Amino acid sequence: MQITTYDTTPYDDQKPGTSGLRKKVKVFQQPGYLENFVQSIFNSLEDFHGKILVVGGDGRYFNRQAIQTIIKMTAAAGFGELIIGQGGLLSTPAVSHLIRKYAAFGGIVLSASHNPGGPDEDFGIKYNVSNGGPAPEKFTDALYANTRIINNYRIAAIDDIDLDTLGELDIDGLKIRIIDSVADYAELMANIFDFDLIRQSIAAGLITLKFDAMHAITGPYAKHILEEVLGAAPGSVFNAVPLEDFGGGHPDPNLAHAHELADLLLGDHPPVFGAASDGDGDRNMVMGAHIFVTPSDSLAIMAANAKLIPAYAQGISGVARSMPTSQAVDRVAVKLNLPCYETPTGWKFFGNLLDAGKITLCGEESFGSGSDHVREKDGLWAVLFWLNLIARKRQSVADIVHEHWQTYGRDIYCRHDYEAVDSDTANAIVERLRSQLATLSGETLGGGYTVKYADEFCYHDPVDGSVSSNQGIRIGFTNGSRIVFRLSGTGTVGATLRIYLECYERDASKCHQDAQIALAELIAIAEQLSEIKKRSGRNEPSVIT
Ligand code: G1P
Ligand code: ZN
Repeated sequence: MQITTYDTTPYDDQKPGTSGLRKKVKVFQQPGYLENFVQSIFNSLEDFHGKILVVGGDGRYFNRQAIQTIIKMTAAAGFGELIIGQGGLLSTPAVSHLIRKYAAFGGIVLSASHNPGGPDEDFGIKYNVSNGGPAPEKFTDALYANTRIINNYRIAAIDDIDLDTLGELDIDGLKIRIIDSVADYAELMANIFDFDLIRQSIAAGLITLKFDAMHAITGPYAKHILEEVLGAAPGSVFNAVPLEDFGGGHPDPNLAHAHELADLLLGDHPPVFGAASDGDGDRNMVMGAHIFVTPSDSLAIMAANAKLIPAYAQGISGVARSMPTSQAVDRVAVKLNLPCYETPTGWKFFGNLLDAGKITLCGEESFGSGSDHVREKDGLWAVLFWLNLIARKRQSVADIVHEHWQTYGRDIYCRHDYEAVDSDTANAIVERLRSQLATLSGETLGGGYTVKYADEFCYHDPVDGSVSSNQGIRIGFTNGSRIVFRLSGTGTVGATLRIYLECYERDASKCHQDAQIALAELIAIAEQLSEIKKRSGRNEPSVIT
């Protein structure tokens, strides 16, 4: 195999964020930009000679081209085998599963998740390690350091590979397997859930459903599992063909972006169940007839009912949530006497807890939940969990949620995002918040919210002892309410400021309030403390979820 070494110079903006490197496609198309980053990944790894690498992406614009480059660089780097999804397609949870199933050294996921795709939109690249999860901070720090000093990259002189034909190739000792993108994942799901029961409930008409794949990666997965295997009516899965630009939409499963699904479920003749997933298939939105389930509630309900699912029937070892996620799951953990962990935002922090067997279920407010079956959040897994639950409990989604609130009370929750804020303005807002932390405790704000604690979240990993500081500003009140401020680590334009708001309602008769109304006073306090509207010149958040 002929290998050419090309001289290069570093780009200074290749610091991985919450979930890998995300930039505009045009940035990735700069000469050597992708190559520098991929070579820096390889330069940060040791002892991978002859081992397996899994590669796939969500099918967005630049996916195929990037994969061809990565194949040539992988060959030059000396891996022994490449496993690639047909057409270059693999969902993020499927990559995680394949790494684990085939004992791969690691995997590369090409995706910018829920960000829009197309020549003028976003692209991304993320490295996952041998447990199937996102690389830990120690690795991404080393990777970033390597991007700052890189001076060459290596490419093998091989032809472009046909990504669409299943099969095996051998190129000068490098084995390349093009595999069915869906099969291994579908088999895993069948081993976790009671497919027979779900199939019967669908056949009996007890469950009708709609799934919005948002023209993204879960289309082929959902079509196969929900329609072909479980027998949902043809057309139950819609927007099912992955498109390079996601049909011009934001493949982000929330009420704002998955409005086609929301209109169906909140409309006149809704199905029993509705769900959507994002660009790369790790997020989920769950709805029932006339009800939207917040991701924080969804996690709590899954934890409370896990024993009804075959894979978790023996009990779960513990639960975890990211810090800004509502405290609903904490209440379940107390009642079921389970350990409950609070981690920084981003799935990578759950990996150690899952590997050590300290938790079985985990989730984030940002429409992500998952379990120890892989090391990523998993959109379709959550959908199947809910279908299994509905089939077992023979209850509507609304009844399941209301019963939960009856037992545990409701953590009324919402998140306000201010997107594309000028970076200096955003940093000044965070500094302003920081400067108040020392003196806020004990103060009463608004009409009777007394501050119990005000700090910046710092995580001490109980497994490896690592410390992650500056993970968001938290202000907790004596009545259990909470406001959290964070800067996004996944945005690609300016800064995105997130405000997370929650209050607790124990009285089930008051649990049905509209979140924006119930949280109005906290929203006003958040503005008083941060002056986001005043300083950014915005009248309202860009997105409310
Ligand atoms: C966002 C979410 C976070 C999630 C990440 C990747 O990150 O808030 O929970 O893990 O996307 O899907 P952020 O932009 O807030 O850094
Ligand atoms: Zn995603």
